[in-house]
Amino acid sequence: MNEQFSKKSEAWSARFSEPVSDLVKRYTASVFFDHRLTSVDIQGSLAHAEMLAHQKIISAQDYADIQRGMTQIQAEIAEGKFEWLLDLEDVHLNIEKRLTELVGDAGKRLHTGRSRNDQVATDIRLYLRAAIDDISVLLRALRMALVDLAEKNADTILPGFTHMQVAQPVTFGHHMLAYVEMFGRDAERMADCRKRVNRLPLGSAALAGTTFPIDRERVAKTLGFEDVCHNSLDAVSDRDFAIEFCAASALIMTHISRLSEELVIWMSPRIGFIDIADRFCTGSSIMPQKKNPDVPELARGKTGRVNGHLVALLTLMKAQPLAYNKDNQEDKEPLFDTVDTVIDTLRIFADMAAGITVKPQAMREAALQGYATATDLADYLVKKGLPFRDAHEAVAHAVRACEQRGCDLAELSTEELRQFSELIGPDVHQVLTLEGSVAARNHVGGTAPEQVRLAIQRVRSLLA
Ligand code: ARG
Repeated sequence: MNEQFSKKSEAWSARFSEPVSDLVKRYTASVFFDHRLTSVDIQGSLAHAEMLAHQKIISAQDYADIQRGMTQIQAEIAEGKFEWLLDLEDVHLNIEKRLTELVGDAGKRLHTGRSRNDQVATDIRLYLRAAIDDISVLLRALRMALVDLAEKNADTILPGFTHMQVAQPVTFGHHMLAYVEMFGRDAERMADCRKRVNRLPLGSAALAGTTFPIDRERVAKTLGFEDVCHNSLDAVSDRDFAIEFCAASALIMTHISRLSEELVIWMSPRIGFIDIADRFCTGSSIMPQKKNPDVPELARGKTGRVNGHLVALLTLMKAQPLAYNKDNQEDKEPLFDTVDTVIDTLRIFADMAAGITVKPQAMREAALQGYATATDLADYLVKKGLPFRDAHEAVAHAVRACEQRGCDLAELSTEELRQFSELIGPDVHQVLTLEGSVAARNHVGGTAPEQVRLAIQRVRSLLA
């Protein structure tokens, strides 16, 4: 990989009396990773040059030369012919140097009224804005896939758990919609973060602004920024927008990780609630019977690195005095890896969710164990006039009796159930069925199939 970064060129200005060692060059260079910013760097430079020409700070001819040079540089990069030089430290100096080789003095004028400090801050914002847009599209695709799965399973019943113990029956549709809510909030967070990303640092120059008669609004408009950053010291130094992005990403991955955990458990042959398409699983090199849910497991694991990147950026920013410090060069690798990980993960999950096979029989059998309708029996007694705490106690006795006999509440006859409360009548059996239990929770946010269908309609219209 480092082969592509050759090492010729001299020490980099008259100010220096000795060149830095090769080790220091390698240590301080960022071109190995920030060349990913090439296209946004060129986009930002062109907008800056256009403004300089408009303000008559450079000539129209200079601007035309800069445009021509940048077009050629883009072509060279696309063809893999661009020579990245380690000695030129980063993407910005590499491009500027090549531009000057190609178009002469116009290339040297590009940096008028600008610094790498406001340049790099602008590049990261442009890069991140595009990443947020990609992530938003993928979050939508994932929610659509989950909504489709929910719709197919609006009536499928499985046990809902608390403390990993059977609690109450829920519909699988309802369970999937819980994740749709989580990813919906993730999308809101991304959209909110985008507002603060989408502001222009250019014009701040190194830290204090510039003596040239620049037009920052013009550059902001050209680049599609909603506003300019209103303090030059802040604009070149703070990376809070990137930290916010990493926090929003960490939450996406946290939600992915929770879903992954469930997929892994549900796919375990001991549980067998679902199956995942073979293309997301691998076998074992020694145990022929295995089909391992590698993708959800890896996603669960990758959550660790994304959470780690958030902490890396917070730690990077902490205790940095105003204004720009080289520490900030370290923002890129965590940020890029966050973007790559989130994008790949969402892409895979949207596809994987669409291919989940649900096994309603196994879910049903599990829901029939563990006295999942005990709360329904207590609610039934309350509706007949018993205070809830007494109802709770009566049902606890019934559950205990069932445990001793090794049967479910629904298997007791009305007469047997009446031992625990005189209020129990023949209408009790409707309440003890799984269908009766879920259908009874028929309010906004409840698990009833009717509510699941309404919730699906709501989400679909939000996503339309
Ligand atoms: N490569 C640098 C970075 O990523 C660009 C800004 C350098 N500025 C400076 N004053 N050394 O942050």
